[in-house]
Amino acid sequence: MNPSLSNFMLARTPKHILHPTPTMTTQLQLNTGASIPALGLGTWQSAPGEVKKAVIHAIEAGYRHIDCAFCYQNEDEVGEALQDVISRGIVKREDLFITSKLWCTFHTRVEEGLQKSLDLLKLDYVDLYLMHWPVPMNPNGNHPLFPKLPDGSRDIDHSTNHIQTWKNMEKLVQSSSPKVKAIGVANYSVKYLEKLLAQATVVPAVNQIENHPYLPQQEVADFCKEKGIHLTAYSPFGSTGSPMFKDEIVNEVAKKHNVGAGTVLLSYHLARNSSVLAKSVTPSRIDENRKLIALDDDDMSKLESISKTKGLTRFVYPPFGVNCGFPDKADGIDLSG
Ligand SMILES: NC(=O)c1ccc[n+]([C@@H]2O[C@H](COP(=O)([O-])OP(=O)(O)OC[C@H]3O[C@@H](n4cnc5c(N)ncnc54)[C@H](OP(=O)(O)O)[C@@H]3O)[C@@H](O)[C@H]2O)c1
Repeated sequence: MNPSLSNFMLARTPKHILHPTPTMTTQLQLNTGASIPALGLGTWQSAPGEVKKAVIHAIEAGYRHIDCAFCYQNEDEVGEALQDVISRGIVKREDLFITSKLWCTFHTRVEEGLQKSLDLLKLDYVDLYLMHWPVPMNPNGNHPLFPKLPDGSRDIDHSTNHIQTWKNMEKLVQSSSPKVKAIGVANYSVKYLEKLLAQATVVPAVNQIENHPYLPQQEVADFCKEKGIHLTAYSPFGSTGSPMFKDEIVNEVAKKHNVGAGTVLLSYHLARNSSVLAKSVTPSRIDENRKLIALDDDDMSKLESISKTKGLTRFVYPPFGVNCGFPDKADGIDLSG
């Protein structure tokens, strides 16, 4: 088409068509051909006794994407909630998108780790199974989830590496009766992704990382886009107690759109074509977090200015060292295999 004609048409295309308002069930494409709903309910730190009610409330309120993990130690209650809503006909299993994650002490026992989560969740399959961290930990250490050495440092399993783990995860999707629809990773830096992709047969469908205006992780986002890996943002509010709800710029954008700061923090990811996980066990917040809006270029450049002026802030520290960012730098050890 003639470029001046296409510019003419673009200028006259209504805003709502150019930037459709995202909803929590807007489907984002994965490299498997499947899609992932834009908003997921997070379940980390959702206490026993709370998480079942939260998941039931969320699904009744229209959420279709639930983010789980073996290490959250609450998958049994999430499973009870799923059974409840499915048996009452609120939702069909195939209309839900359920993620679980392989914990670090299960890197050498991938099938066993998956089966444990499936049993707890009371499911035949998960839609997405992620390697929770690219760091194998001793399966026979002094704690089943967080083993430590006598000097207090993490008990890392140096006999294997994340690439070997990925090879075993690949077998899950290559099986004749797969119990996972897709496999992916979490907490992967560009360096780790490069090492993985050099030897992978299956490109991860997703990289789930901490992501928000205080930690845009632009180089990871750009790399994932180039490689066809969908990005899912975790801790969009900066997890419990973060200052982001009070941030001046976030509130300026929120005021412009007449919405709460939380809506801006969640919608930021939709503007980046990422899905986002919001954790809450509070019914009113679960409801409130459903609201997403289309942010424009001006909003996004304001939000992008936050990390440029205030620096980067990581709110969720990996369980391998202190304030070490990605595990590349964990305890000063290169674990990338
Ligand atoms: N792959 C990984 O390694 C990894 C790491 C971290 C998180 N995740 C996933 O990402 C999910 C989300 O991250 P996150 O749990 O760290 O934190 P988050 O979703 O950024 O923040 C959760 C906190 O915000 C509060 N909150 C929720 N909605 C609110 C609202 N509208 N207004 C005010 N406060 C609100 C919640 O309180 P209440 O619950 O009390 O309402 C909770 O204290 C996790 O639950 C987990 O599923 C994955």
